[in-house]
Amino acid sequence: MEDRFAKALRQTAALMDTKLDQLLPVNKGLEKDLHEAMRYAVLAGGKRLRAFLVIQSADLFDVSRDYSVRVAAALEILHTYSLIHDDLPCMDDDDLRRGLPTVHKKFDETLAVLAGDALQALAFEILAHPETHPSGSVRASLVHRLALASGGHGMVGGQTMDIYADPDEISLSTITRLQQLKTGALIQYSCEAGAILGHAAPAQITALKAYAHDLGLAFQIADDILDAEGESDEMGKATRKDADAGKATFVSLMGLEKAKIHAKMLADQAISHLSLFNSNADLLRDAAIFTVERKK
Ligand code: IPE
Ligand code: IPE
Ligand code: MG
Ligand code: MG
Ligand code: MG
Repeated sequence: MEDRFAKALRQTAALMDTKLDQLLPVNKGLEKDLHEAMRYAVLAGGKRLRAFLVIQSADLFDVSRDYSVRVAAALEILHTYSLIHDDLPCMDDDDLRRGLPTVHKKFDETLAVLAGDALQALAFEILAHPETHPSGSVRASLVHRLALASGGHGMVGGQTMDIYADPDEISLSTITRLQQLKTGALIQYSCEAGAILGHAAPAQITALKAYAHDLGLAFQIADDILDAEGESDEMGKATRKDADAGKATFVSLMGLEKAKIHAKMLADQAISHLSLFNSNADLLRDAAIFTVERKK
């Protein structure tokens, strides 16, 4: 039987598909192929975990879903841009994503770069739009924090370290920082965005950010574990890539078994940060367990 978390995640994914379809540009004119590539990548699915975290965090503060669903969609759009660029030949050189050929395989490299660029801009356009929240200062804060989480001091900074780090030189502290930036920053933003929308109190913001910090790290360690022992068919992307590419990961540094213990410890720690919230935060607690037990 489907458990409550699986059901809630499935409902979020359905909500996202509808909202993303409305927000993405429709094919027309000479930009037709660009718009097609953007839609192809974003509407291919994905777990929509970041969207789930935005909506669940915002729900803690009774934020209208009209607002949180738009923020969740913006974040999934930005995340998809990061995946399109991550798969490019100059980065991880992957042919399969979300069970489909990657954007540069389906279209070409130029459109993959441009679709990523346009998706990034679209994410910020959505956040800045008055329909996302009536308060200009809430919208400015959402934009500002996403810029920090996704840019040179966040996801892009981490991606740079990921590509250029020498796996023979890298320490546990450096890999932790790398993964915190490349993956953790956007996951942390998911929860922070819910708190911003909900005008959360400082203690609540601190708790949610601490939860998401540990969750983000656990999420990338789980991704590295799945790369080493997961099934490509189930995951919709190639596996056994990190070792072949000589990537530094928690698995390469610690070995599989210790990496699993570390990820589980981080998930438990993430849950413990939520102690000031009541059972309304149970789906966030479930999300931490899902993060380390998932098979895709
Ligand atoms: C993949 O993210 C990239 C990482 C940061 C590890 P997800 O595993 O969330 O990918 P989708 O969105 O479900 O496809
Ligand atoms: C990607 O990490 C993180 C991003 C910022 C996109 P990976 O390169 O490990 O993600 P996958 O395994 O290709 O999904
Ligand atoms: Mg990568
Ligand atoms: Mg990759
Ligand atoms: Mg990976």
